[in-house]
Amino acid sequence: MSASSYSVQGDVAVIVMDNPPVNGLGHALRTHIYDSLAKASSDAAVKAVVMIGSAKAFSGGADIREFNTPKSAAKPTLHEIIAVLDGMHKPVVAAIGGFALGGGLELALACHYRVASPKANLALPEVKLGILPGGGGTQRLPRVIPVAEALQMMLSGNPIASEKGKALGLIEEVVEGDLLAGALDYANKLVAQGKGARRIRAMTAKLEGATQFFERARAETAKTSRGFPAPLEIIACVEAAVAKPFDEGLKFERARFEHLINTIESKAMRHMFFAERQTARIPDVPEDTRTREIRKAAIIGAGTMGGGIAMNFANAGIPVTLLEPKQEALDRGLATILKNYTATMKKGRLTQAEVDSRMGLIKTTLSYDDVRDADIVIEAVFEDIAVKKAVFEKLDAVMKPGAIIATNTSTLDVNQIAAFTKRPQDVIGTHFFSPANVMRLLEVVRAAKTAKDVLATTMKLGKKLRKVSVVSGVCDGFIGNRMLEQYVRQALFMLDEGALPQQIDGVLQKWGLAMGPFTMYDLAGNDIGWYVRKRRYVESPHIVYSKIADRICELGRFGQKTGSGWYRYEAGSRTPVPDPVVEKLIEDYRKEIGITPRKISDEEILQRCLYALANEGAHILGEGIALRASDIDMVYLTGYGFPAYRGGPMFWADSVGLANVLAAIERFRKGYQGAAWEPAPLLAKLTAEGKTFN
Ligand code: 3HC
Ligand code: NAI
Repeated sequence: MSASSYSVQGDVAVIVMDNPPVNGLGHALRTHIYDSLAKASSDAAVKAVVMIGSAKAFSGGADIREFNTPKSAAKPTLHEIIAVLDGMHKPVVAAIGGFALGGGLELALACHYRVASPKANLALPEVKLGILPGGGGTQRLPRVIPVAEALQMMLSGNPIASEKGKALGLIEEVVEGDLLAGALDYANKLVAQGKGARRIRAMTAKLEGATQFFERARAETAKTSRGFPAPLEIIACVEAAVAKPFDEGLKFERARFEHLINTIESKAMRHMFFAERQTARIPDVPEDTRTREIRKAAIIGAGTMGGGIAMNFANAGIPVTLLEPKQEALDRGLATILKNYTATMKKGRLTQAEVDSRMGLIKTTLSYDDVRDADIVIEAVFEDIAVKKAVFEKLDAVMKPGAIIATNTSTLDVNQIAAFTKRPQDVIGTHFFSPANVMRLLEVVRAAKTAKDVLATTMKLGKKLRKVSVVSGVCDGFIGNRMLEQYVRQALFMLDEGALPQQIDGVLQKWGLAMGPFTMYDLAGNDIGWYVRKRRYVESPHIVYSKIADRICELGRFGQKTGSGWYRYEAGSRTPVPDPVVEKLIEDYRKEIGITPRKISDEEILQRCLYALANEGAHILGEGIALRASDIDMVYLTGYGFPAYRGGPMFWADSVGLANVLAAIERFRKGYQGAAWEPAPLLAKLTAEGKTFN
């Protein structure tokens, strides 16, 4: 039940905002604030007003769920409340405990004074949702703190702490101890000193050399914000704050906000915000499922993945032991970890003391005796089922009862691995992405017999390790790599037909992907895909692939690590350079299979690659491997460099229209290697019903 309240304490009216979990400014809370301000205004006994939220949140801002719905326009709107606050004749003090974000900070800016607890966080994070502060923030913040600082806060969306807020002039006083008592003292002092309302609107946003400043800001931001609609609009609004009278600036802000909120890019970014939070929900595993304690971890294998995974535990303050059969491998693994931490320190993101304490949490061993009491053990040895079998049998023999036994396999069957033990209920897949200490995605693979508390514990651990954990069922490639395979198959078929790697990569990169498939494989190692294909040639001979990728591998061109792959690389450089050798190889292959090359349009490249992703995603969703379409989107947004402003492959397919996607797939089925296209039953069903994935 909401504990929002209005009371009068001496000369001061106290408006308490209570709308859990984050004091979002939804319609009910807006009404409470509006009505309370009216009461305070009309009560002659009230000389000043204090507005306060909870210890966690002054306010998390506008209710994002209400955007693009009639509720956001329902009266009183946020704009109306802000206008009333600003116009109050009695001084209003915002008492900020916890965070004041977006519309929450804008509410505080419309108050006449602001006090905050030491741990308060102040931010205008709208840019992260593809919008801009639309409650007067772009006009008020640069009037109260230096313009450059205000712009930086809006472009980054990152919070500042109370002390910094005070130094900048955003906060009048930092209150140690009880915030309400401090705010009441402050308000009473205002009354005693006869100080009235002090409106930010009456201040000016001063800036020397404004023209050059904004030109520079635009040039720098344009370079980093390609595809994102908000940053340049934010600069325009802040420029208006400097150049225009307050009310005109406000009008300008309003128009730009209204424009942005209707862009597909902003909708995509808001989809991502909620999608991330959805991933934690598993329908048949209640949120109150009792989890197991994870105080100690162990990792088998200190190679590329094992080392990166160990860093995650150390970063989260969990002691971890790495096990290898040979001392050299441990030394190598540990040296790589130290090198990574040192590089981060050199960039100023870690102190020596932090590096030491993290390294101190990582132990190494050659003996299983030293890992038996770990609460979770993650296997990250060679991708070979015989090696995995030996390791899992050993783990089954030594690990304490109740320990979670996880595998980082990327291609093997987790059910089969679980069956190597007598405790399959304790076995789960934790598919980290490389580099494991950097990538946010963690696919949590739920095997047939995985116990619910093991799943819940692993999801909770993922959060502690600061990962976005997405549940996947068992299938070849899980969610991400299974979809990727179809995408890459299409890219390769287009090489057969007339495209070149640089053309395909160029089109997809321009569209927004961090890199195209050929650049990506050169980075990850072409041998990985080759290994998978060789297995498929035996296990699933009906699946057809272009042979060009195998030819590249047969030449030892595994990518950056061998100096050449789909591209060549100058010594010490990671820049892909188109290579005539590859073009010749492709040409020869086309001749061999009797294809006369044709020009492939950018549109066809986009459609074939991206519809292949969405179609396989629909198979995965239909089979119940993924819990929801937005989980699939999160996999691509956090693990595969999919641009946030496209919302993920499923969201994007929704925005294109599923009927259009299906029609294109039907067309592709009649084209080259058309048998590779098998429209997902779910795609056909949703199209027939006029529905979407999300
Ligand atoms: N509107 C609606 N719901 C919100 C919300 C918001 N502004 N902020 C958070 N929520 C919801 C979340 O979706 C989640 O719901 P769920 O439990 O149903 O999944 C719940 O609140 C708790 O959120 P978190 O799990 O993220 O909780 P944390 O404690 O980890 O983080 C937070 C809290 C820091 C406030 C974080 O939720 C956050 O960053 N929220 C977004 C803040 C934001 O962007 N505000 C600006 C909004 S736009 C605006 O104000 C426009 C204005 O300029 C006109
Ligand atoms: P790697 O070859 O870099 O490391 C494997 C390590 O395991 C080596 O240090 C090796 O000495 C050690 N090892 C081998 N047999 C062992 C045994 N019996 N006991 C203890 N240690 C043993 O391999 P990488 O890349 O770290 O892969 C590990 C696992 O992670 C594989 O299952 C792989 O499929 C998976 N994976 C790899 C990704 C990648 O991009 N490299 C991404 C996601 C998963």
